Amino acid sequence: MQIVKKLNRLKQIIRHIKKEGKKIGFVPTMGALHEGHLSLIRQARRDNDIVVVSVFINPIQFNRKKDFRSYPRTLARDTRIASKAGAHLLFAPSAAAMYPPGFQTTVEVAALSKTLEGKFRPGHYRGVATVVAKLFHLVQPDTAYFGQKDAQQASVVRRMVQDLNFDLSLKTMPTVREQDGLAMSSRNRFLSSEARRSSRALFLSLQEGKRLIELGECRRDVVEKRMRAVIRKVPFSRIDYAVIVDPETFEKVPLIQGKVLALLAVWIGQVRLIDEMLILSPRARR
Ligand code: PAJ
Repeated sequence: MQIVKKLNRLKQIIRHIKKEGKKIGFVPTMGALHEGHLSLIRQARRDNDIVVVSVFINPIQFNRKKDFRSYPRTLARDTRIASKAGAHLLFAPSAAAMYPPGFQTTVEVAALSKTLEGKFRPGHYRGVATVVAKLFHLVQPDTAYFGQKDAQQASVVRRMVQDLNFDLSLKTMPTVREQDGLAMSSRNRFLSSEARRSSRALFLSLQEGKRLIELGECRRDVVEKRMRAVIRKVPFSRIDYAVIVDPETFEKVPLIQGKVLALLAVWIGQVRLIDEMLILSPRARR
């Protein structure tokens, strides 16, 4: 696997790959790779000739400086396991190269960026959309891979690709979980052993929502209340949101019918976790 840090070098290599008519699969990450990331890399390998993985801890998507500073930096390990999972090229640019002095152009996906995660993390999705647009221009993938774990992010990117006519397809892959259901995340390492036990409540809450909806419950407030109760039971938990939304618009559904998305953002001690579950209601959408 080749490791590339310079933008010009990457452009050269991409031109060469394109000339050979090879298909490029792209997995953007911030490193600290785990099985969730690896599932995207493996899928990219199955679908394409060349797999590019980026590792870039994007400073402009962090709304808390402390979060940016404490983000795990594990490039040597990331390199090893990305290569083992089938990546051909790892792109790890510097922040100075991505955002040179004078940088001032950003991409904003208006409505989708303002709700839920967007509300709790102002500017976050502007940072994500901007860096993903830049990476798409640099890597020129045929297909890019995102995790359903960050459901709203995947939708923001999908909207941007449509609205700005990026010539690529997107694939969203299911959330990879630990054995007890906790969604894999680079942040899980910050959980104390007690908090780690409590963190299981996110998955249990989503499962409770799913159970009720599959039994035919169509009142959103009833389901959300039960989901919150599951989380409140465990120590150290504080809920930012626990909602049932439309999987396209991320707006709260008036009535649960057809396909809906359960979304959670919960603090367990000092660690903020998010999770999601797509749920099919037995009630047909009218
Ligand atoms: P990062 O958090 O490193 O995630 C990179 C990709 O891995 C995202 O598409 C994310 O949804 C996916 N992912 C993370 N945990 C997962 C899990 N448990 N199961 C399946 N997929 C999972 O998301 C970002 O980086 C950044 O915002 C980025 C898109 C790279 C832009 O900076």
